[in-house]
Amino acid sequence: MEDKEIIAIKALDYVTDNSVIGLGTGSTANFFIKHLAKKIKNEQLNIKVVASSTVSEIEAIRNKLNLIGIDTLETLDLYVDGADEITNNLNVLKGRGYDLVKEKMLAQSADKFIIIADQSKRVAGIGENYPIPIEVLKSTWRLSKKILDKYGKGSLRKNAAGDAYAISSAGNYIFDYSFDAMPLRELHEKILTTPGVIETGIFYEITDCALIVDNGQIEVLSK
Ligand code: 5RP
Repeated sequence: MEDKEIIAIKALDYVTDNSVIGLGTGSTANFFIKHLAKKIKNEQLNIKVVASSTVSEIEAIRNKLNLIGIDTLETLDLYVDGADEITNNLNVLKGRGYDLVKEKMLAQSADKFIIIADQSKRVAGIGENYPIPIEVLKSTWRLSKKILDKYGKGSLRKNAAGDAYAISSAGNYIFDYSFDAMPLRELHEKILTTPGVIETGIFYEITDCALIVDNGQIEVLSK
């Protein structure tokens, strides 16, 4: 079994009956969705799920989960998602999928937010392996870019075919930015206070727990 599946199965330890669970996006999160469905069926659990993206919505339906709309949600017990980068002090970078707002909304509103990842995602600092995704209003993206260009360099993300700009399910554009070196807290604040910015892929100090796997060996990082 591959590491991503091993760590997805480990996250089932945090699933409780009569709860609402947020489903993350990506290949690791897809393993979690598959095994959550098996657990619910085998143990006859009463669990509702909410999707963080169109992809996780499709996976939830394929696995016959009891899917509820994010617009009906008032509380969330647990959110489980993958990551692109994670530091030892549990700061996370996400957003290779496009749905930054929904992912952050579920992560920050959940009673417990768990990251599931393999060792390749561990970094000393956020931005080490990937640019920082930033979701922005379409109509004013040029002006948001002018402001963000004071701190780094970036451009609009293209769609998978490369023939148009990527659009989030909320209808916004996504920038990918590399920034000049500065403390993460300061960078996070500079991005989020830029007019037109809807959300960033920096998940700053909101992760409760990270389950990391390295060749089958599991490590649990907690706050
Ligand atoms: C999507 C994400 C994913 O969780 C992240 O890209 C990890 O993906 P994978 O589990 O496929 O490695 O942030 O926006």
